[in-house]
Amino acid sequence: MGKPSMTLMQWIDEKYGTNVDVCDNQHKELFDRINALNDSLTDGNRAHIGNRLDSLVDYVIAHFETEERMMEERGYNGLDAHRQEHDRLLLTCTDLQDRFHSGEMDIGESTMAFIKNWFDHHIPVIDKSYGPDLSN
Ligand SMILES: [Fe+2]
Ligand SMILES: [Fe+2]
Repeated sequence: MGKPSMTLMQWIDEKYGTNVDVCDNQHKELFDRINALNDSLTDGNRAHIGNRLDSLVDYVIAHFETEERMMEERGYNGLDAHRQEHDRLLLTCTDLQDRFHSGEMDIGESTMAFIKNWFDHHIPVIDKSYGPDLSN
């Protein structure tokens, strides 16, 4: 029995489902990695936290590439605006990694709240919009 941990991102089909299986599955994996990062904060081990941060960001990069490739293939007309949202987050992620790994900052509740809020807006509002075009 491990200690109970707070689940930061809880998958809810009605809220997050885009009707595109590939994307839904990747979003679930993203949630797992966000939760893993959040859980690692409790023991305060920086190496551990850094690994989970990097693994989350790696997955965010791969996920954004998947979405953008699919939107390109379907000629989705919201691609440019969508890509701008992605690019903005990627800049924030790089900055976060730099500052964490240089020891300039630690990851705490406010960083996790930022990540949660970003995906809580992006998936239901921005990602869901591609559902009709990207689903079969
Ligand atoms: Fe997206
Ligand atoms: Fe997404």
